[in-house]
Amino acid sequence: MKAIRIHAYGGPEQMQFEDAPVPECRAGDVLVRVVAASINPIDWKLRSGAMAKGIPKSFPFVLGQDGAGVVEAVGSDVQGFAIGDEVFFYAEFARGGSYAQFVAVDAAQVAKKPRTVTFATAAALPTPGQAAWTALIETARLERGMRVLIHGAAGALGTIAVQLAKQQGAHVVATASGEGMALVASLGADEVIDYRQQRFESVARGLDVVLDTIGGATQEASWSTLRPGGLLVATAIPPAPDRAAAAGVRAAFVFTPPRGAVLAQLAERVDRGLRVIVGREFALSDAAAAHRLGESGRAHGKMVLHVTAPAAN
Ligand SMILES: NC(=O)c1ccc[n+]([C@@H]2O[C@H](COP(=O)([O-])OP(=O)(O)OC[C@H]3O[C@@H](n4cnc5c(N)ncnc54)[C@H](OP(=O)(O)O)[C@@H]3O)[C@@H](O)[C@H]2O)c1
Repeated sequence: MKAIRIHAYGGPEQMQFEDAPVPECRAGDVLVRVVAASINPIDWKLRSGAMAKGIPKSFPFVLGQDGAGVVEAVGSDVQGFAIGDEVFFYAEFARGGSYAQFVAVDAAQVAKKPRTVTFATAAALPTPGQAAWTALIETARLERGMRVLIHGAAGALGTIAVQLAKQQGAHVVATASGEGMALVASLGADEVIDYRQQRFESVARGLDVVLDTIGGATQEASWSTLRPGGLLVATAIPPAPDRAAAAGVRAAFVFTPPRGAVLAQLAERVDRGLRVIVGREFALSDAAAAHRLGESGRAHGKMVLHVTAPAAN
């Protein structure tokens, strides 16, 4: 099969479009013929070696966690999936491998694809969708009437987070810039702050929850926007242990493990209208160009790789 592999940590030039063995479908796995894969910021953190301590890999390995496709084979001990099912998945980091024509994924990390969207759109959902779910629904336990500030609201995680927060009945304050402002408003945000033009901490006050997808100066300025006892949930940079206590609030860091059961709930919501925003689309062989764009911070939207044609079913 064709795949994007790396043989050493480094820049996008390490990404080789080459032949690789079809992965073994072990007990508990499904083998998926990948139609589309998506690109997450963690993909270039894994590629560069920045995650080498936390997620050790052996070379060569196929990049990518998220994707959508068609079940090609089912391992022993697998319930609920059959050959020909249309699925989407978030493969655990230790295995990964979605930038390829075939990937073997633990069936517990797979769900049936939403019926109403394309494979490319389904592929764009798993990691950011799960992170938004874990952060807002499971960790912050957002409820009707709570006030939440969502940073990076025009991003992959943020666009899902805004919609989930509105579905929970929360009042949503969002930060975005440029064309992202209108997008975030169209997803239901009650207030949108242009983070390039205005200091969000001068207008956002007394919040129950901050979802921090940025870290650094954005995280530091966020503490003062919370009410006493409020909660900052971070997805990019873990808050320093004593910082929340010093501000009289709470903090949590979310690192989302893959769970097919959560993907199934997200798929239902997509079929009921949750929007998944896809940005630039690339052929699998151009994955390095997509990484360059993503790392430059100029991608402005979720990038998707087209791997095989759905009609090859
Ligand atoms: N812990 C987990 O389980 C988990 C899961 C998923 C993602 N993440 C992490 O969460 C972060 C966001 O992921 P993503 O997939 O949503 O990335 P993304 O699609 O690249 O979105 C990032 C967004 O942040 C915006 N932004 C940049 N600087 C900002 C600032 N100072 N204030 C407010 N918004 C700003 C960008 O908007 P512009 O267009 O204005 O630049 C962009 O819309 C990444 O660090 C990722 O690694 C963690």
